[in-house]
Parts: sequence; structure tokens; C-alpha cells
Amino acid sequence: MSNDLPLFLADLKAVLDHGFDLIVKSVRARTAPMHTPVVSTIGHDGRPRSRVVVLRAFEPESRVLRFHTDVRSEKYHELAADPRIAVLFYDPAEKIQLRVEGHATLHRDDEVGDAAWGSSQAMSKLCYATEPGPGHEIDHRDDFYLPRDRAEAEAGRAHFAAVTIVIDELDFLWLGSEGNRRAVYRFNPQQTDARWCVP
Ligand SMILES: Cc1cc2nc3c(=O)[nH]c(=O)nc-3n(C[C@H](O)[C@H](O)[C@H](O)COP(=O)(O)O)c2cc1C
Repeated sequence: MSNDLPLFLADLKAVLDHGFDLIVKSVRARTAPMHTPVVSTIGHDGRPRSRVVVLRAFEPESRVLRFHTDVRSEKYHELAADPRIAVLFYDPAEKIQLRVEGHATLHRDDEVGDAAWGSSQAMSKLCYATEPGPGHEIDHRDDFYLPRDRAEAEAGRAHFAAVTIVIDELDFLWLGSEGNRRAVYRFNPQQTDARWCVP
């Protein structure tokens, strides 16, 4: 390895630690590019479906990511039918792309859902009280109701779910002027299979 590469490229463990650290920091850093990853699900017609979400939590030890969504949304129904999910992160300043594959669990009426709702800002809660639900076709652009006050926002709990994702595989790509580097990690119950790959 050439000497002028960043320290986090020293070995496969340092690469993974750096990637996970970037995700951890992005949860609180609202303007960080990794705060709003793209999640992809498998549509009912078998086509891939992608959209931006806000990253709400990441626990590196358990490799669990969390985002929030409306139970009336397409993605919620898609994940109920098939929990396979991909998450794409890219930070241009870091020159790092992280491609995650995992499986999702839906938390509508359990403790995880309650805690996630409890930690949500009033502003965020308002979206879940919209009527009709997201994706509903309307005749005019304004034909939906979005509550304005906090009391009404609490009604959104009925439509709110937390989605947790256990990371099964991570593909790390660093695009540097000194040459690109790529590492792939497969997380098995007993061990992690880590390999360098041709970028
Ligand atoms: C910056 C940004 C953040 C978003 N965050 C979320 C989110 O956290 N959860 C969510 O369900 N949708 C979020 N959305 C909206 C989704 O991208 C998507 O348009 C919507 O959820 C409908 O997707 P679906 O029909 O595939 O379910 C966000 C969109 C943007 C642009």
C-alpha cells in the first residue's frame, strides 16, 4: 500500500471501523450527506424501488440501522411482503460510498415503535397525521390535510412505524486521487468475512 493513503485504509478492520463511524456521526449531523441515505426495496411487481429517508439511529455493535415511515406508504407494504432491503450512503467530501444489504423488521405497535415515536420531534410527527395517506392519488395538488398543531400531530402515531435494518453485507468504496480501494464484509452469525476487492 502506498504511504500517502488515508490511515483508515490501513487494514480491513480500520476500513470497517471508519465506515461505521461515518454512519454513527451522520445520525446527529443533519447536514451530513449520509444523514439521508437511499433505501431500496423490492416492489410487488418485482421491480426495485428507491427513495431517500432520514437515518434515525445506528448501533455498530449490533449493526442495526433505523428509519421511520408511514404504515400507509408503499415501502412499508413492500417490506412487509419481502424484508430484503438495500441502503446506499455517499459522502463526496470523504470520497466514500457505502452499499448496505440487509433485512428489515417493521415496528408498528411494539416498544421500538413507541420509543421511536416518543423521541420524534413534533414537526416530524405532523407528517404522519396527514390525510389521506402518502401515495394516495388526488384530483388537485392541495387535496390533502396536514395538521398544524401538536395535539393533532399525536394522531399520527396510528400511522407511524420504525423500521430497523440488520446489516448482512457492506461494500465500502473509496475513490481517491491515489487510486480507488474497495472492501466487502459479509456478517455471518459466527464471524465476519472481510475481503479487499478490485474497485
Ligand atoms: C430529504 C428527504 C428525507 C425523507 N425522509 C423520509 C423518511 O425518513 N421516511 C419516509 O418514509 N420518507 C421520507 N422521505 C420521502 C421518501 O423519499 C418518499 O418520497 C416517500 O416516503 C414515499 O415513498 P414510497 O412510496 O416508496 O413509500 C424523504 C424524502 C426526502 C427528500
